[in-house]
Amino acid sequence: MQIKNSAVSMIIEAENQKELEEIKLQFLGRSGRLTLTLKEITKVPAEKRAIVGRLANEVKNVIEETLEEKKLTLGSQISNQQKQSIDITNPGIKPDIGHLHPMTQVLYEVADIFKQIGFQAADGPEIETDYHNFEALNIYKDHPARDTQQTLYLDTRDSKSNPGEIILRTQTSNMQIRIMEKFTPPLRVIVPGKVFRYEQTDASHGFEFWQFEGFAVDKNIRFTDLLGVLDYFVKKFFGENTKIRFASHNFPFTEPSLEGHISCITCKGKGCRFCKFSGWVEVLGAGMIHPNVLKRMNINPSKYQGFAFGTGLSRLVTLRYQMNDLRLLTDPDLRILEQF
Ligand code: PHE
Repeated sequence: MQIKNSAVSMIIEAENQKELEEIKLQFLGRSGRLTLTLKEITKVPAEKRAIVGRLANEVKNVIEETLEEKKLTLGSQISNQQKQSIDITNPGIKPDIGHLHPMTQVLYEVADIFKQIGFQAADGPEIETDYHNFEALNIYKDHPARDTQQTLYLDTRDSKSNPGEIILRTQTSNMQIRIMEKFTPPLRVIVPGKVFRYEQTDASHGFEFWQFEGFAVDKNIRFTDLLGVLDYFVKKFFGENTKIRFASHNFPFTEPSLEGHISCITCKGKGCRFCKFSGWVEVLGAGMIHPNVLKRMNINPSKYQGFAFGTGLSRLVTLRYQMNDLRLLTDPDLRILEQF
């Protein structure tokens, strides 16, 4: 009885698992107090031996149970302590949240600028037929303009198409054709998208880059509408003080054609390395849609006219952020991307 009481009170007061282990040894170990007592039982007169034996076993059970219980409560106290060491009022660690790529940011911005003057954005295939990318735009098989748009051809051996017929589009102008095939004027559309050319990559060339095309077809569309829309765009995108100038150019699918230059945004037209000290940078090609292109789309050129323009979206991004290398736009390095 005495053994039981002292064991139980010691167990209750124990503060950690190590103390519990010691108590267990002290009472139940090989030379523990209870173990020794049990050994003494043989000395007890035979008639009392059964009662004493049962009692001693009960004591043993009680001690063992109390030990087990205490072990459990000590265990949960430890995890309570650990829980308390977490300060739930601390502000959490912010997960890194990504953001839109500068390319996409600019794409959305351009789409917004044109939305304000009634242009809708459209999307189209990057794998294209030679017809939509070239033929229908007056760029026939032997046309020298093909040399300026080095083309990537797809393997057509296992398809129904003829060799050379399926390509990666070299310009977003393919969408002028696709839209005019499906819809009738009035049309006001912009098409941002990826284009591909078989070119050696360097700071200002990529085999894969972004363009965006814009065009309108309606009655009474004039050359000055084109100039006005382009002027509106560069002022909205690069700032009100940006100037635009036009030089004559040649594209097979526009007549007349022009090239647009803006006053260098780095030096404000004074001349710097960025604009090769000319004060101007070339940003776009444009013109009035060639009557043959309209006719091919069953649009009567004596009733309807159209203008079209195309610019390198990638180039707009590098101009805006004064990046000196187009390749930065396809570099997944976070040290670059986090700057936008
Ligand atoms: N598609 C032409 C190019 O890639 C640009 C352009 C578009 C020119 C529309 C005129 C009209 O160079």
